[in-house]
Amino acid sequence: MLTVAVLISGTGSNLRALLDAARRPDFPARIVVVGADRDAEGLAHAEEFGIPTFTAPFRAFADRDAWGEELGRQLEAWNPDLVVLSGLMRLLPASLVARYSPRIVNTHPAYLPEFPGAHGVRDALAAGAVQTGASVIVVDDGIDSGPILAQERIPVLEGDTEQTLHERIKPVERRLLIDVVRRIATGELALTP
Ligand code: GAR
Repeated sequence: MLTVAVLISGTGSNLRALLDAARRPDFPARIVVVGADRDAEGLAHAEEFGIPTFTAPFRAFADRDAWGEELGRQLEAWNPDLVVLSGLMRLLPASLVARYSPRIVNTHPAYLPEFPGAHGVRDALAAGAVQTGASVIVVDDGIDSGPILAQERIPVLEGDTEQTLHERIKPVERRLLIDVVRRIATGELALTP
């Protein structure tokens, strides 16, 4: 059974979908801990499922490295086989990426390498893109630049706002993320840095 730690910053709707999937007896992975860089709303989903949580508030640390050390310390206690960034809106320090690489994956609301970074949906709209997408990647030292594990195109519709487009992207992200975790767990998908 693959053990998974999930890191979030926000509402955790994708985390919720992963928690639902992982609860099914035939799913080959289990979520062992959920962490956040702030007092994230999404931690409540983990609590509801009886999954341990932790918060490593970014602002409480002197710099990214000190924050990363605390995150690493918390993760270490659970010794996860895989770390999933599900809406973590901060870059991990290189030392932490190196610790888990290539066993860290990230979900992103755009068709990478198009529109990387914190505002993938907004940037696609601002660029006038007629289609965008959802991607699941391996995390490397760059910004959303690691190997692509799964992705799918999603059309931008006339009148789309950042919110309507993002809400159409998220269900696709969820499906891709759950499938990637499943395929990593079964060995169908091999991770390479
Ligand atoms: C998701 O769309 C995820 O891809 C995005 O944050 C959202 C989190 O939603 N992450 C990034 O943009 C990372 N660059 P959720 O909290 O409802 O799961």
